[in-house]
Amino acid sequence: MSVVLETRQLTKEFKGFTAVNNVSLRVQRGHIHALIGPNGAGKTTCFNLLTKFLVPTSGQILFNGRDITMARPARIARQGIIRSFQISAVFPHLTVLENVRVGLQRPLGNSFAFWQSEKKLNALNGRAMELLAQVDLEQFADTVTADLPYGRKRALEIATTLAMDPELMLLDEPTQGMGHEDVHRVTALIKKVARGRTVLMVEHNMSVISGISDRISVLQRGALLAEGTYQEVSSDPRVMEAYMGTTAGTTAGTTAGTVPGALEGAH
Ligand SMILES: Nc1ncnc2c1ncn2[C@@H]1O[C@H](COP(=O)(O)OP(=O)(O)O)[C@@H](O)[C@H]1O
Ligand SMILES: [Mg+2]
Repeated sequence: MSVVLETRQLTKEFKGFTAVNNVSLRVQRGHIHALIGPNGAGKTTCFNLLTKFLVPTSGQILFNGRDITMARPARIARQGIIRSFQISAVFPHLTVLENVRVGLQRPLGNSFAFWQSEKKLNALNGRAMELLAQVDLEQFADTVTADLPYGRKRALEIATTLAMDPELMLLDEPTQGMGHEDVHRVTALIKKVARGRTVLMVEHNMSVISGISDRISVLQRGALLAEGTYQEVSSDPRVMEAYMGTTAGTTAGTTAGTVPGALEGAH
């Protein structure tokens, strides 16, 4: 099956205000799929529907063809949809290695079993170190997480997410608040860990999106405005207008490269 995640006319109203309006998305297996749109477009609400933090007003969510619209958050996590960042926060007082071990324990259903014998926990060290190596954090294994530089914390969050072996990773603004160097590192990391998985991410940084997205869906005022590759979407006059409030740029011979410029820093 080539579609991992599908929404059908997904809608969320808050007291008569429609934050997500008839959104039908199809996320292809193996893709890095980006969800973008101006501030207030409904991206976060959409994410919260997909991860079951919110119940849709109407519409359907299908994962691998199965209707999960009414499934509980814990169940969809077990089925392989894991949201990283903002939610799967790491524990600041544990070491980097210990945090990954917590992630490894989750599928076993004893997520917070810190009291488990040292011996049992140490049995997870090999796998935990492998995951740290994947995100280039081996040398920080014994560092207390609170002492990690910001970008490295995000890498650790990716490692704890990978520990749960998700089929679909949902990333909400993975490079938010980062400096250039960390943005590059985390972007490369997402590309690397996306091999053999599917990633759906909300991201504002257009250079990140242009660099790694296979497909982009653009939301505006709760509704799907455009969809396609970066080239297609960034040269779409409707998208330019949504972001810049004008299509003047197109007639003035603006290249596709100008949209990302206008989008930088948009939230
Ligand atoms: N719990 C809520 N109650 C009422 N309105 C909400 C709630 N959550 C979001 N909204 C509104 O829905 C719209 C979309 O918000 P959001 O999904 O956060 O947009 P984005 O993440 O694209 O910036 C906004 O106008 C916001 O004010
Ligand atoms: Mg948001």
